[in-house]
Amino acid sequence: MPGIVLVGTQWGDEGKGKVTDLIARDFDYVVRFQGGNNAGHTVIHGDRRLALHLIPSGIMYPSITPLIGNGCVIDPRVLIEEMDMLEKDGLSTERLLVSGNAHLIMPYHRALDAESERRLGSNEIGTTKRGIGPAYQDKAARSGIRVQDLLDEHIFRLKVRTALVEKNDLLVKLYGAQPFDADAVCDEYLSYAPRIIPHITESGQLLNEALRLGQWVLFEGAQGTLLDIDHGTYPFVTSSSCTAGGAAIGSGVGPTTISKVLGIAKAYITRVGSGPFPTELSDETGALLGDVGAEFGVTTGRARRCGWYDAVIMRYAAEVNGLTDLCITKLDVLSCLDTIKICVAYEHDGRRYTTVPGSQTAFHYAQPVYEEMPGWRTDITGCRSFEELPRQAQDYIARIEELAGVPASLIAVGPDRSQTIMRGWSTRQGEGAVQGERGL
Ligand code: IMP
Repeated sequence: MPGIVLVGTQWGDEGKGKVTDLIARDFDYVVRFQGGNNAGHTVIHGDRRLALHLIPSGIMYPSITPLIGNGCVIDPRVLIEEMDMLEKDGLSTERLLVSGNAHLIMPYHRALDAESERRLGSNEIGTTKRGIGPAYQDKAARSGIRVQDLLDEHIFRLKVRTALVEKNDLLVKLYGAQPFDADAVCDEYLSYAPRIIPHITESGQLLNEALRLGQWVLFEGAQGTLLDIDHGTYPFVTSSSCTAGGAAIGSGVGPTTISKVLGIAKAYITRVGSGPFPTELSDETGALLGDVGAEFGVTTGRARRCGWYDAVIMRYAAEVNGLTDLCITKLDVLSCLDTIKICVAYEHDGRRYTTVPGSQTAFHYAQPVYEEMPGWRTDITGCRSFEELPRQAQDYIARIEELAGVPASLIAVGPDRSQTIMRGWSTRQGEGAVQGERGL
């Protein structure tokens, strides 16, 4: 039966791509359930690194069916570009499935994203300007265009024409930008239809049947808990449900089909875009973490803000997502430090917080309370078992587990798939495999 959700526990960029890549081979389906091409991760194919923003990483394995669920927003140009890139590299995209209920990102969504950020000026959200927010706005307003609309040219043209009456007014009258020509937009998008239509599916029916048959489904979260539209640091969030509950909504399965939730956390923390960040390091330690950890966005190339590991955020993420397991990534990056800090609580206005405060003002002004731990100052990238890690690194992980109340079943000590310590997370074919047994 297992439906397993993998989620980011911080502000995205936790290294979910590598972990998905590592464990995906055990699954029959890998499903994206939210977001669009605002996400991004690199997959290794032979000696080549391929950047994927939309297609689930399961595409790398012929035994896996990758599926883009109804909760996603899809820019068809990006989808086709990624399919072409993969095909050119010898990776078949024939198995790729796309929910007919997923929404399309239209050219006017991208324009509105950029214009609205420009208008916000110093109050900008720092979006990826991929049109994600405006596409979800239209979904909620019931004026969105769905993938299945590509099946009916008449409906497609009617919906785009209707939407553009309002969008062009906004673009021209409010933002002083150029309007879109409805026919040109329709002609462009309908030219994509023959490439997309063969991949359209009804994701809920398909996945429920698969789960009934005992197949394995991995729900691959994008972004992270604190970027969730409901549970994140609103308004500095993305526009979808990045937390584990989103997996059910964004794919059409019931919550009882999910048996495990694996939370991914960096051994420190990063954020791109604007918004509060209690443990941010605006000093040379932050710069060092950024350098050693190569903290630049795959999608936008922006430098990520870096800070100390925040156990308050993790405690919150453990609850919001119902985490059963943790994966700590990039532990090796901390090898460059003599001492390491963990934020164990916040203080604001005479109050102490051990979980994320409900009030955005308290979170904004939260003063981190740190515990200091000794670093290990040695190369750990060759360690393949917990016992091989230096004592200080073991203590650091143990403290993270204690503060989160969740076991760290996986620990990444380098960028390569093989540079992972499997601790109580055995897989069918992965490193540390229990042969012939699904050990989750
Ligand atoms: P949007 O998703 O493009 O609307 O951007 C909203 C916020 O989410 C911005 O702060 C982005 O930087 C952030 N964001 C969106 N996708 C990612 C991601 O994959 N990693 C990290 N931050 C992201």
